[in-house]
Amino acid sequence: MTINMDGKVALVTGGNRGIGLETARQLGNLGATVVIGSRDLEKGKVAANTLRSEGIQAENIKLDVNLAEDHQAAYNFFEQRYGKLDILINNAGIQIEIEDLAPINETSTVSPAIMRETFDANFFSMIELTQLLLPLIRKAPAGRIVNVSSALGSNTLHSDPAAPSYDVKLLAYNASKAAMNTFTTHLAHELKDTPIKVNSAHPGWVKTPLGGKYADMDLEDGGKTSVILATLPSDGPTGKFFHMDTELPW
Ligand SMILES: NC(=O)c1ccc[n+]([C@@H]2O[C@H](COP(=O)([O-])OP(=O)(O)OC[C@H]3O[C@@H](n4cnc5c(N)ncnc54)[C@H](OP(=O)(O)O)[C@@H]3O)[C@@H](O)[C@H]2O)c1
Repeated sequence: MTINMDGKVALVTGGNRGIGLETARQLGNLGATVVIGSRDLEKGKVAANTLRSEGIQAENIKLDVNLAEDHQAAYNFFEQRYGKLDILINNAGIQIEIEDLAPINETSTVSPAIMRETFDANFFSMIELTQLLLPLIRKAPAGRIVNVSSALGSNTLHSDPAAPSYDVKLLAYNASKAAMNTFTTHLAHELKDTPIKVNSAHPGWVKTPLGGKYADMDLEDGGKTSVILATLPSDGPTGKFFHMDTELPW
């Protein structure tokens, strides 16, 4: 069955490239209006233009997830233009510990500056933005929040020597995604009696600057998990962690 997202409006943070842009493209192809949030306004414009040239209804706003004034501007944009927000994809993220997601463990030496910068972008900013936009998501008939996490945020997998991610111990990045997963379960619990669903996505190990040169998944597949969770039916799961249709352990 083809999902029809006509009339829905979606915000994708960090939507100007990589998995975010591909997620916006796939949601747009299902009929949603997609709004690209980008910290560089020009890059967002280029991305939205590209999507429009493909027949997608796309707009863009300047949204540095670390800037409170950009959060407020995003709120004002959706309130005035749409009066609601159907889908929030918390996709923007950074990994600043190593160049490629290769096996490494520098837990005993990673700097507090790297820990803080990573948590600011991947965790604190994401919470602040979501809290601010939540009243608009409540106004949508069936809000969906997708927190783009990572299998590297799974403590269960990090304690399993057989897991492929076992040797990729990037303390700042992995802990920020584990914390994001906690936000998912807690917000989903608070919203369990509403139509809103909140889930974490592991997009896969995807060929992007963040994924690095060893990644095995193409962008097209890398966008799919967020789209699945953004288009969940009313009887779909909430407060869970998925890669494609497979539930992952926390
Ligand atoms: N690639 C993978 O293998 C993989 C695996 C698991 C999870 N993920 C997650 O998937 C998400 C997307 O990653 P990706 O691989 O597509 O990475 P990417 O190609 O490096 O893209 C990251 C995006 O986040 C944006 N961003 C970074 N800091 C920002 C800020 N302060 N405000 C707004 N936007 C900001 C970047 O904007 P600029 O263009 O301005 O830098 C860019 O659009 C991330 O959350 C990542 O942790 C990726």
